[in-house]
Amino acid sequence: MIETLAWTGSALRLLDQTKLPRETVYVDITDERQMHDAIRRLVVRGAPAIGVAAAFGVYLGVRNAGTIDALDRVCDYLATSRPTAVNLFWAIDRVKRIGRERGADAILAQAIAMIDEDHRVNRAIGANGLALLDSIADRKSKIGNPVSILTHCNAGGLCSAGFGTALAPVYLGHERGRRFHVYVDETRPLMQGSRITAYELQANDVPATLICDTMTAAVMSQGKVDAVIVGADRIAANGDAANKIGTLGVAILARHFGVPFFVAAPTSTIDAATKTGADIPIEQRDAAEVTRFAGTQTAPEGVNVYNPAFDVTPAALITSIITERGVATPPNAEKIAELLKSPRSS
Ligand code: MRU
Repeated sequence: MIETLAWTGSALRLLDQTKLPRETVYVDITDERQMHDAIRRLVVRGAPAIGVAAAFGVYLGVRNAGTIDALDRVCDYLATSRPTAVNLFWAIDRVKRIGRERGADAILAQAIAMIDEDHRVNRAIGANGLALLDSIADRKSKIGNPVSILTHCNAGGLCSAGFGTALAPVYLGHERGRRFHVYVDETRPLMQGSRITAYELQANDVPATLICDTMTAAVMSQGKVDAVIVGADRIAANGDAANKIGTLGVAILARHFGVPFFVAAPTSTIDAATKTGADIPIEQRDAAEVTRFAGTQTAPEGVNVYNPAFDVTPAALITSIITERGVATPPNAEKIAELLKSPRSS
């Protein structure tokens, strides 16, 4: 798998995802300002990867300040980098508690441990999701034919420290000899689907077909999709899930065409303190992401733009939420609470 991030001993090395797929460039992040900027500009992106990166950002800030007294300031600052992915706040809170009790070295040890933990969690999501995909394959008598998945945005290896969330069942199945085909929504405006998901599926030899977001309905209407799997940036206590803008439309289409719609995410993406999707803060991004395309102005100068980076899919449109601790089918407040109480599988 392509490496998203790695600790060098003095810096966090990040794959610059803004340059994919044309250039593979790694940047070394050595302080909290660079980390804030990398998260805000999507150099590192995807909820689990942002969380791990922020944990290292806290360490770098405290290390450079030379005193643990800087802990609250550094944490508060990094928490302003992006608002929606709850993994950011989850990771910052986690290392903050450890830093208060045990100091800067313990923050670094925890951040390093989070890389391995993320791999383990994602493989467990993969196992739970693969069981669902296998049952779809059985039901549809697909034995020997590839199961056709559709995904939106990037919740593959590059959204995480490795292996991904929504694509984890696909990667695990691929390892175990199952056959999949993945339709990849390009995901305007920042093209995480075409730039990142198509790239990593190709690099991992998983058959994939790229489509424009506008083609999803046609592809589903033609019976070409057996299941949709997407990731999440924050899941509310009632199972409503925020994910990349456009996901809600895909969920509505899936319901219309009778296609199962799965959300795969670690339990660190569940925010028990956020009651419903209406309470999830949605990041608004720069108008230029919409008015420009591939570096060229494509809209009239001065046009009004609305550019929310995420939308919320209500739990009622989600068939199951797949986590490392189990699956919530159908997702609702009771099932989510049960999941959070169940023992960790990693
Ligand atoms: O803005 P991004 O690229 O950080 O968006 C996050 C995402 O990649 C998606 O919403 C993803 O499906 C969830 S992150 C596992």
